[in-house]
Amino acid sequence: MEFIELARKRYSVRGFSNQEIAIKDLESLAVAANLTPSACNSQPWKVIIVKRADLVAKVATTAMATGMNAFLQSAQAFVVILEVKVKLMRRIGSMIDSQSFAKQDLGACMYGITLQAASIGLGSCIIGMFDREKIAEALDLDANVSIFGLVALGYPLNQDVPTKLRKSLADTASIK
Ligand SMILES: Cc1cc2nc3c(=O)[nH]c(=O)nc-3n(C[C@H](O)[C@H](O)[C@H](O)COP(=O)(O)O)c2cc1C
Repeated sequence: MEFIELARKRYSVRGFSNQEIAIKDLESLAVAANLTPSACNSQPWKVIIVKRADLVAKVATTAMATGMNAFLQSAQAFVVILEVKVKLMRRIGSMIDSQSFAKQDLGACMYGITLQAASIGLGSCIIGMFDREKIAEALDLDANVSIFGLVALGYPLNQDVPTKLRKSLADTASIK
């Protein structure tokens, strides 16, 4: 599949069926994360794939507390993406803060996970609103851990791919 075709196929799925996700498919998301490019190849992430039903329910609850994201009740799994401290080469570390590029790296990692999901017919939705403390508690993580984001997963209930709502190319790109 051409990349643009895959990028169009991926969309934020906000309703999942109760079909179970095979372990090998979940593992492929960890591989996609692992292949992400990063500044100085620093790989400032750890991904936790949450599959156990009781933990999935707890993670979903942490992201529904604001009254948003009620569809997460139907999520079958989550990828929780942690930001980890980078060890830069001393020469570079003396010039920049170790986490200077981490957010870019982590965003790329997250997108890669959603693209891999789309490529195997799995639905995903990036979730930005959640209670970090409660997730750390639910997953028995160190309280100081930095949770970058969540990706909710499951097979789409509805098979229609929505039309992409995007600014025009003329507004967002130029060639000089
Ligand atoms: C950092 C980030 C946080 C997001 N948080 C949420 C969220 O909490 N709930 C939700 O339903 N969608 C969330 N989204 C999905 C966006 O709304 C969605 O990507 C955007 O509207 C474009 O639609 P598309 O993904 O279907 O192409 C988030 C996306 C990103 C990148």
